[in-house]
Amino acid sequence: TTVLIICGGLSHERDISLSSGHRVGGFLEDAGWHVVFHDMDSDLIEYLNNPSTRPDIVWPLLHGANGEDGSIRDVLEMVGLPYIGSRAKASRTAWSKPIAKNVVRKLGGLNTPHSVTLPESMFRELGAGKVIDLLVQSMGLPLFIKPTMGGSAMGCTLVTDAKQLPQAMVSCFAYGDVALVEQAVTGTEVSVSILDIDGKPLVLPPLEISTPNGTYDYDARYTPGPTDFYVPARLPQEILKAVQDAALAAHRTLSLRDISRTDFIVDADGIPQFLESNVTPGMTDTSLLPQAAVAAGYNLADLYSQLVESVLR
Ligand code: DAL
Ligand code: MG
Repeated sequence: TTVLIICGGLSHERDISLSSGHRVGGFLEDAGWHVVFHDMDSDLIEYLNNPSTRPDIVWPLLHGANGEDGSIRDVLEMVGLPYIGSRAKASRTAWSKPIAKNVVRKLGGLNTPHSVTLPESMFRELGAGKVIDLLVQSMGLPLFIKPTMGGSAMGCTLVTDAKQLPQAMVSCFAYGDVALVEQAVTGTEVSVSILDIDGKPLVLPPLEISTPNGTYDYDARYTPGPTDFYVPARLPQEILKAVQDAALAAHRTLSLRDISRTDFIVDADGIPQFLESNVTPGMTDTSLLPQAAVAAGYNLADLYSQLVESVLR
């Protein structure tokens, strides 16, 4: 059985994807699988269809656009190969933060921070000053400014003073045409990873992220050291359970499959506030899913191997 790992890709998270792909591939090789790697390039369809290179199963480990927006999964469905992870349609829904927030709130009964979406054109039409005044009046501060679609906190800024808003908007629009402006909830940042093994969801213990400056930005994500992680999160037992239940509700409501990681802020009242679900969670050494799994006592080679087996079955 040959497992093809697709990693790299064209998104801003290319480096992370290469790292995730090679980590997972290494663990699968340790578990005895024959693993091959391919980037997302113009040869990919030919590679997948050619009888001499066609794999038995694919694990797409592309982060960001193309990887998490459904496109690579459309290709895999077109060539008729089994693959690990959510279907194309579900990926598209989860990939758009505002759409996912709406779905989990309305259909899943979850809480999510109050937010608005702002297209870049609105700034040109109304003038940046006017839009910023309106925003601060209606939403208050602090605010999180994020691209509606994206990963690894690229283009995200925590704004505590209205003076920071113009720069935050510029950073955000470098990654997309629409900004998600979200009320920044104070609380504990936690992340819950889920793997569907043999038809049953394995909900890993909530992992708490504690950063020195309070924002889990790109550097805090991929530089070992300054960020502290706690598994399980330092929260009362019943709240840990509530966060796990909320993650499972998001996984199910968004029709996710095989693997997902949902990120929350547990607010001052102990309520999990949904931020987003990731269909291709990071799998690097410093990433959250592998850390939660190891802390919970799982061997990553065995765990990833079981996931591949259960998708092949
Ligand atoms: N977007 C990165 C890879 C993550 O969610 O871990
Ligand atoms: Mg993400």
